[in-house]
Amino acid sequence: MRDPNEEPVSRETAIERFFGDHVELAREYAAILSADGVERGMIGPREVGRLWERHLLNCAAVTPSLVAGDVVADVGSGAGLPGVVWAIARPDVTVTLIEPLLRRTRFLEEVVDRLGLENVTIRRERAEAVDDHFDVVTARAVANLSKLARWCLPLVRVRGGRLLALKGSSAAAEVEKARGVLEELGARSIVVTTYGDGVLEIPTTVVEVLR
Ligand SMILES: C[S@@+](CC[C@H](N)C(=O)[O-])C[C@H]1O[C@@H](n2cnc3c(N)ncnc32)[C@H](O)[C@@H]1O
Repeated sequence: MRDPNEEPVSRETAIERFFGDHVELAREYAAILSADGVERGMIGPREVGRLWERHLLNCAAVTPSLVAGDVVADVGSGAGLPGVVWAIARPDVTVTLIEPLLRRTRFLEEVVDRLGLENVTIRRERAEAVDDHFDVVTARAVANLSKLARWCLPLVRVRGGRLLALKGSSAAAEVEKARGVLEELGARSIVVTTYGDGVLEIPTTVVEVLR
């Protein structure tokens, strides 16, 4: 938790902290989202002013949790959150974006092409139809945790794979509701963690489930 007497760092410092050598690529992605992303209905026009704090930094804050070589899936990637952000910040992991809507996968293909991301694969599918396993499965703003458990846990590698569900303040309550289904599907531990403490005004809350 951030010390309430301590100021969070500036946006620029946070961007540098989380994106390191890849800041320019992150800025390019932000520019695409703010222009084409809005025009094509991938994000709402009101999000532009809060793109970094609410979206890009919120996603990037979680990347220290990834391990080099991790094979990651982002379920319901939408405009690429968090999957594209993670792929930019962490070229040492590979990311599969799972998104059923054609309009969105077309946008994602263009983003990946324009940014020259070589560590991203796009699959136009619903999570339930995917028959693969990943070291880390993530999802943000896709469904409640009980539904996410059914869609995502079967995709998490058995013995050591993780589900990282990016959630808001409802995380702890969602865990209580979903605990039964998570355990039934093989969860060995369920923890609510925050990322970006001391850096972000609102740290990112993540439900971490170990399979
Ligand atoms: C509200 S958007 C969130 C997009 C992005 N994750 C974000 O944080 O901005 C939810 C996305 O989940 C996708 N989705 C819904 N059901 C899905 C399913 N069963 N499997 C995979 N994606 C799904 C939708 O097409 C949509 O793009």
